[in-house]
Amino acid sequence: MEKELLISKEMIQKRVKELASEISRDQQGKDTVLVGVLKGAVFFFCDLARELDMQVGIDFLRAASYGTSSFSSGTITLTKDVETPLEGKSVILVEDIIDTGLTMSHIIEELKRKKPSELKVCVLLDKIERREIEVQIDYCGFRVEGGFVVGYGLDYDEQYRNLSEIFVLKGM
Ligand code: IMP
Ligand code: MG
Repeated sequence: MEKELLISKEMIQKRVKELASEISRDQQGKDTVLVGVLKGAVFFFCDLARELDMQVGIDFLRAASYGTSSFSSGTITLTKDVETPLEGKSVILVEDIIDTGLTMSHIIEELKRKKPSELKVCVLLDKIERREIEVQIDYCGFRVEGGFVVGYGLDYDEQYRNLSEIFVLKGM
């Protein structure tokens, strides 16, 4: 499929560093666990974690939504849960993109039951115009317009995840 460059490697690197220093500053003295949402957030998660100037635990979960592969249907289940006890911890959820907000709000509800002392959201891309459910975002990489984006972890039908830059798919 034809694609157009949206966010370059350099822009990603620069923004990831900025987010990491903001998080390192905010999390000083807090017992923090970084929780990555598989699979889309993996590259962002790894780059961000390595730029943090702090001690941090890491863990992962995976959320699957029934229906088409590209958009949320609203029925979301955790197909892989975190293994770290989160009670009393400051948790930062790391996700690739928030679109309607349904996936993230479901994940937040699930994680709240584990009684973290606080739960923050760090997202690489925010498609704010398509939001159906409000989600509080603490750290945001970039705001994007409506088009379908791929690369740097984001997929279209499991393709393009390994690209090191972010593209918009044409004709979607
Ligand atoms: P939401 O539940 O509508 O917020 O959708 C979130 C999930 O939909 C993300 O974690 C992605 O897996 C997928 N998604 C939404 N928009 C895009 C996109 O532009 N590119 C790739 N995946 C997307
Ligand atoms: Mg995803």
